[in-house]
Amino acid sequence: TLETLDFTVTPAPDPTPVEERERILANPGWGQHFTDHMITIRYSEGRGWYDAKLEPYGPIALDPATSVLHYAQEIFEGLKAYVQPDGSVVTFRPQSNAARFNRSARRMAMPELPEELFVRALELLVSTDRDWVPRTEGYSLYLRPFMFATTRALGVQRPSQDYLFMVIASPSGLYYPQGVKPVTVWASQDYTRAASGGTGDAKTGGNYAASFAAQADAVRAGCDQVVWLDAAERRWVEEVGSMNLMFVYGSGADTRLLTPALTGTLLPGITRDSLLKLAPDLGVPVEEGRIGIDEWEAGCASGEITEVFGCGTAAIISPVGGVRSARSAWTIGDGEPGPVSMRLRDELIGIQYGTRPDPYGWVH
Ligand code: COI
Repeated sequence: TLETLDFTVTPAPDPTPVEERERILANPGWGQHFTDHMITIRYSEGRGWYDAKLEPYGPIALDPATSVLHYAQEIFEGLKAYVQPDGSVVTFRPQSNAARFNRSARRMAMPELPEELFVRALELLVSTDRDWVPRTEGYSLYLRPFMFATTRALGVQRPSQDYLFMVIASPSGLYYPQGVKPVTVWASQDYTRAASGGTGDAKTGGNYAASFAAQADAVRAGCDQVVWLDAAERRWVEEVGSMNLMFVYGSGADTRLLTPALTGTLLPGITRDSLLKLAPDLGVPVEEGRIGIDEWEAGCASGEITEVFGCGTAAIISPVGGVRSARSAWTIGDGEPGPVSMRLRDELIGIQYGTRPDPYGWVH
């Protein structure tokens, strides 16, 4: 059965020499270096999942007619492994990634992978390549599970009948090399990320492919990231770059958070979800609602909005310092990282790195 599907293990014949690995771990960058092994599991219609392997990391050969290269039937996930103070290695909420992976699979007409097999694949790769988990504070081993259509055929009357699931791992430093230095964001009126009924709530490569032109516009406008507005009215704020957004209102005992509700066009972030639980326990209530770009500007002008940050697995919490649009430009608070953003960041990182208790059972 799937639950007992055994992995064939082939150790890398030439693993990275220790000195080279240590050199990489000292300065890993983000998503540029990969460990010595990878996971592959195949799927075929009629047969189901088979041929689970842990094998040496390396290129894969694809027929030029492989479906994914033409029609982008692909989904992925992202999560991290962390070294704990006692030297053990944990991941953060991998079951949540497994569940979201299958929601993405359903949207993209792809087969679901049993959650238990998804988690076991991560465990096997992380335990095999555990020496690749950086020990430096704030660094981690970024895990990238993904699946794509491998049928060799150009027809689009039906989805692919064959798929390859893989997991690769990348020792990673800070996603933004500047750390928690606030980003300036560009409110795009020319491009939208997702429309109702589309793929905005699936973690599929095409959403990211479609974002690069808007990101390039943001950079041309002197900004770091793009703010996505809803496709229907170009008014409601949805996401920033590849992250969910949180707005901090008020200060002291009156602090509260607002995050755009999951309307179907937003990616249901696991960091977002974690903050929805963590913040109220720290005395900061969170509302899932909506905020227009003009209300964002007015809220900053009146001082009602005190901080804004993006949240995601890669960057964790990334303060937003200023906003620019074709019509206007404004600063959030004093443009510096705010105390609520930094407190939530510390608490979350503390749970992930095992320096704070985990009452939620998130650490695996
Ligand atoms: C995130 O973790 O926030 C991401 O969306 C990862 C990104 C590299 C695709």
